[in-house]
Amino acid sequence: MPVRSWFPTQIYSEPLQAAGLERFNASLAEECRRLRDFDDAGRRWSVRNYPGGYTSYASMNELHRFSSTFGTLEKKLLHHAKVFSRALELDLRRRTIRMSDCWVNIMPPTASHSLHLHPLSFISGTYYVQTPKGCPGLKFEDPRLSRFMAAPPRLSTAPAAMRSHVTYPAEAGNVILFESWLRHEVPTNQVSEERISISFNFSWS
Ligand code: NI
Repeated sequence: MPVRSWFPTQIYSEPLQAAGLERFNASLAEECRRLRDFDDAGRRWSVRNYPGGYTSYASMNELHRFSSTFGTLEKKLLHHAKVFSRALELDLRRRTIRMSDCWVNIMPPTASHSLHLHPLSFISGTYYVQTPKGCPGLKFEDPRLSRFMAAPPRLSTAPAAMRSHVTYPAEAGNVILFESWLRHEVPTNQVSEERISISFNFSWS
């Protein structure tokens, strides 16, 4: 073939650990719900900015510093972030990868999270704590979409890697990592149970 692909957009998806996920997720889920009960400011913020759901994004976004359960999660996620950073061939100039933010998202039925990216970091991601059957996944957008101008749409038969969106299913125990500039969204939760995830950012400093 005379045509080759360049400038890949990389997404990482891997179980947090090989065993013991159920117990770890049960304690995380309990802590997430307790946080929602406790975090008045976060619930108020969510009414305006995260309709129908709860996020601690604007109120308690350094959970890895204040909770031992989240501190344990931080250590595990750091390992995955290092693997991903190596896969991205990044030269960190002897600086260290650090988790800068870590927050909870609880999505009851009808909640959604519109298209966004994660400023002030280089690797971001989500860890899934509770994912009822049929709950929405994480939908990524081709970062070149705004430059397509007059380009025709792709064929419906195009290979998955050439389409303008890709959705990773939300699976409890799974880690998804992406470069922080990559826009993504969570479509509406249409099942009756809550979907719980923990989002985070990594910086290098
Ligand atoms: Ni996000």
